[in-house]
Amino acid sequence: MTDYAHLLPAYRGYAALADAERIAWIRADRWLDLDQARMALARLDDLLAYPPRDRMPCLLLYGDTGMGKTKIIRKFLRDHPARFDMGTGVTSMPVVAMQMPAEPVERDVYSELLAALGAPGPIDGAAHRQKEICRGLLRTMGARMLIIDEIHAMLAGSFRQQRIFLNVIRFLANDLRVPLVCAGTDLARQALLTDPQLAERFEALQLRRSTNDGHLTQLLASLATILPLRRPSALETTAVRKRVLELTGGVTVRIFRLIETVAVEAIRSGVECINPDSFDTDELVLPLVAMTRTVETRLQRRGVA
Ligand SMILES: Nc1ncnc2c1ncn2[C@@H]1O[C@H](COP(=O)(O)OP(=O)(O)OP(=O)(O)O)[C@@H](O)[C@H]1O
Ligand SMILES: [Mg+2]
Repeated sequence: MTDYAHLLPAYRGYAALADAERIAWIRADRWLDLDQARMALARLDDLLAYPPRDRMPCLLLYGDTGMGKTKIIRKFLRDHPARFDMGTGVTSMPVVAMQMPAEPVERDVYSELLAALGAPGPIDGAAHRQKEICRGLLRTMGARMLIIDEIHAMLAGSFRQQRIFLNVIRFLANDLRVPLVCAGTDLARQALLTDPQLAERFEALQLRRSTNDGHLTQLLASLATILPLRRPSALETTAVRKRVLELTGGVTVRIFRLIETVAVEAIRSGVECINPDSFDTDELVLPLVAMTRTVETRLQRRGVA
């Protein structure tokens, strides 16, 4: 038996599991403490501790699809869960997180907010009535932050709907006296910027794609210490970093899927470690965008394109 010294002590036990169990472990959903994600959480914590004042600061968390915005919000919610007080019978919800409705219609926004508060309100209620209910509930439930994810969905609306939606955001930002956090893509940032008052209020925090730097090195190194492979991987070489970036464009979700894929392959093939060769097989099944990219580079290498 080996002691799997290349893994962190807490993860060594998994390396001894059967192949199928290890593959399931690799594919399971988990939170990884990436630098940018940790910084974003720290910023959210900071906002949550902000004393109430007339103009509360607002934050826009933006970045490409798959960069981990929703993941960060979910983690923040887990860190600050709602609690039911048996004595008073009141649920307190320090952080309220909702998704943008499919269309930026004012009434749907308030319906989503009511659903996030666990209080599905009158479906056919007029917007102003729903607004009042939301306002009252947010107060009684002690909400100290409101998060709206997928804010770029507002771009699906007509110009007029978008203006109305920006008014709703402005109302929420001004009236609730809690920090408002919006998450979305860069297009959402541009849309918010079209409203001068909101542009003034929102601070923007971007989740950047990985580049060939210390953060990526650290991410790969930390993956190498938790993946339940039985032999040490060589993920810290420049060649591996370059290849990973080539295949993923530095997008977090694609990096995770890529490493997940090669780790599973390392178990199936019995190689039991990830090395530069792991990334050179033609059998890598990757998300579409990455695959297109690979084909393009391959064609370019062959002088076809
Ligand atoms: N900190 C993290 N820990 C673990 N996995 C992560 C982390 N960040 C991102 N991921 C992986 O990336 C995937 C996509 O993340 P997420 O859904 O949060 O992206 P997003 O920025 O919200 O994208 P979209 O704009 O499309 O909604 C997650 O399902 C997860 O697999
Ligand atoms: Mg998301």
